[in-house]
Amino acid sequence: MKPGSKPAGRRRLLFALAALAAFCAVGLYNGLALRQYTVASPKITSPVRLALVTDLHSCRYGEKQGALLEAIRRQQPDLILLAGDIFDDKLPDDNTRQFLEAVGLEYPCYYVTGNHEYRAGGDAFAEKMAILVECGVTRLAGEAVSVCVKEQELVLCGVDDPDAWRLGFEMDSGGFEGQVKRARDACGGERYRLLLSHRPERFALYARQGFDLALCGHAHGGQWRIPGLLNGLIAPNQGLFPQYAGGCYRQNGAVMVVSRGLARESTLVPRFYNRPELVIVDLVPENPTAGSNLSMEGES
Ligand SMILES: [Fe+2]
Repeated sequence: MKPGSKPAGRRRLLFALAALAAFCAVGLYNGLALRQYTVASPKITSPVRLALVTDLHSCRYGEKQGALLEAIRRQQPDLILLAGDIFDDKLPDDNTRQFLEAVGLEYPCYYVTGNHEYRAGGDAFAEKMAILVECGVTRLAGEAVSVCVKEQELVLCGVDDPDAWRLGFEMDSGGFEGQVKRARDACGGERYRLLLSHRPERFALYARQGFDLALCGHAHGGQWRIPGLLNGLIAPNQGLFPQYAGGCYRQNGAVMVVSRGLARESTLVPRFYNRPELVIVDLVPENPTAGSNLSMEGES
């Protein structure tokens, strides 16, 4: 053995352990992140800014939800779109109520259910829906509404989570797919068609129905990520290595933006390189000289 080889080996081991600890510490940091996508379309003549909020699960973001509210206010969105699991089936509704009371006063807000609202059971579900009404948030359940923002007209559709049917809630016949079709049929015209749905794994159905843009959540970013290598380890209803864990996707001319959501203390397994995110989607007129009608950027 060469003189000095033991201290050198120990130094390498200590360095490797320190590097591993730093890798884990950075990965486990779960402060709120901001992610922005730009989607261009010939149907858009005047820019519209959407804030997509999903999977809050009644988690806490500072005093009276101030951190999340400030992040939204800084972006000055035109609409707030709430894509399900805003409430949780185990955590109390207080944090969600505080959040909805504030955004309901400041912005037009539209909401669809997620699976966890149904998991809470019939009575608790009714209480959550009553909070929406008190806060001035509009629930979409197979409907289409016309929304005019700064002279830009959009058709906004929303559908319930499929668990409503699976768990025996009193629902319209035709199931989830029937409700998606009903919402699509209610759109009419050639205006920009936007679908709010909790479930990203049904993207093929949304694209087939001719929606221009679907906004979803549910996957929680696949819980664990490795930047540049793995975009999500596991997601509900998609299993291991989910196709739609979080990001922006295209199919048959349709675009889907999947938020990684805001769940934190509601989930036992911590997020890893998967910070909870507020998603901003900018709808802009198409630029014929641009190579792509999509762009995205992330910001801390
Ligand atoms: Fe969720």
